[in-house]
Amino acid sequence: MTLPYDIAVEQSAAPVSDERRAEILADPGFGRYFTDHMFVADWTPEQRWHAPRVTPYAPFSMDPASSVLHYAQQIFEGMKAYRHPDGSIWAFRPEVNAVRFQRSAARMALPTLPEQLFIAAFEALVRTDAEWVPDGGAERSLYVRPFMFASEVFLGVRPSQHVTFAVIASPGGRYFPGGLKPVSIWLSEDYTRAAPGGTGDAKCGGNYAASLLPQAEGIDNGCDQVVFLDAVNRRDVEELGGMNIFFVHSDGTIVTPPLNGSILEGVTRDSILALADELGYRAEERSTSIDEWREGVASGDIEEVFACGTAAVVTPVGVLKWRGGELSCGDQAGKVTTVIRERLVDIQFGRADDRHGWLHRLV
Ligand code: COI
Repeated sequence: MTLPYDIAVEQSAAPVSDERRAEILADPGFGRYFTDHMFVADWTPEQRWHAPRVTPYAPFSMDPASSVLHYAQQIFEGMKAYRHPDGSIWAFRPEVNAVRFQRSAARMALPTLPEQLFIAAFEALVRTDAEWVPDGGAERSLYVRPFMFASEVFLGVRPSQHVTFAVIASPGGRYFPGGLKPVSIWLSEDYTRAAPGGTGDAKCGGNYAASLLPQAEGIDNGCDQVVFLDAVNRRDVEELGGMNIFFVHSDGTIVTPPLNGSILEGVTRDSILALADELGYRAEERSTSIDEWREGVASGDIEEVFACGTAAVVTPVGVLKWRGGELSCGDQAGKVTTVIRERLVDIQFGRADDRHGWLHRLV
């Protein structure tokens, strides 16, 4: 594999010791520790993308007037590098993240990053920090976070004329500390996540910032995550704070909300839709109202509910709570949720046939 970009690599003079790294990899949690290096490239209208480099992991020096600090012109992605039993390291559908990153950039008036540069950056960082990729036990992997932000020093409200693209990486275990224990979901009745014509289908930090208050309300009510309804009718289930959602019906149909412009087009969501057929399920993209959810569980028509995302993989939903009520959706992972989860994870970790050609070798 040769990189199509001339990426300078400056090795860290003070990498984390082997002992400390082993300790971290044994119990990394999620998003707490970072590898020795990061990738950075810059953009200006004149120079376009330039100076791609792997450098020692370090804080950015930011001018207080950097535009992102004021107007939130920013996007990100979430990906993972998986170590296979033979020691090789692989990415899962990185080109899909690259294309989504381009769509998010377009919506936030940021410059397009070529798909090749996105993947080259991922490869360069993972190769430099390959020792940070866990051995795959307990589904541990290296979570990779590409992001782009407005770095021009300017307070006028217009697209930034200096933009920074960076990639950092963090060894990670399961996103939910409870592991595969079903999570509880709080129904956000006062707040929505995204409106038609808004930024719901872009992976921009603002969407996540807007979810924090309802998420905190959920936590105050004993829940792990929050679920949002559509902003117009406050009726149809859209997505969780940072994950898509699926309903498993008793006839073997798995249903997820359609991409209506306010839902993030999840890579895991798309992969599950593609896997459904070969696993013997019928997949449908259609709306489920909150009443259908409640009635479906009560009547037995909805047998399982699960959330999915790069970080969360496939996580069963155990309880839906709202002001004054709650609904149990199962106290353990259901059969369909388990089958889908296992197939996906087996492909990612190299234990099942990659029939779709989803894996991309990094090391
Ligand atoms: C992901 O699943 O990668 C996400 O971006 C969700 C969350 C961790 C922000």
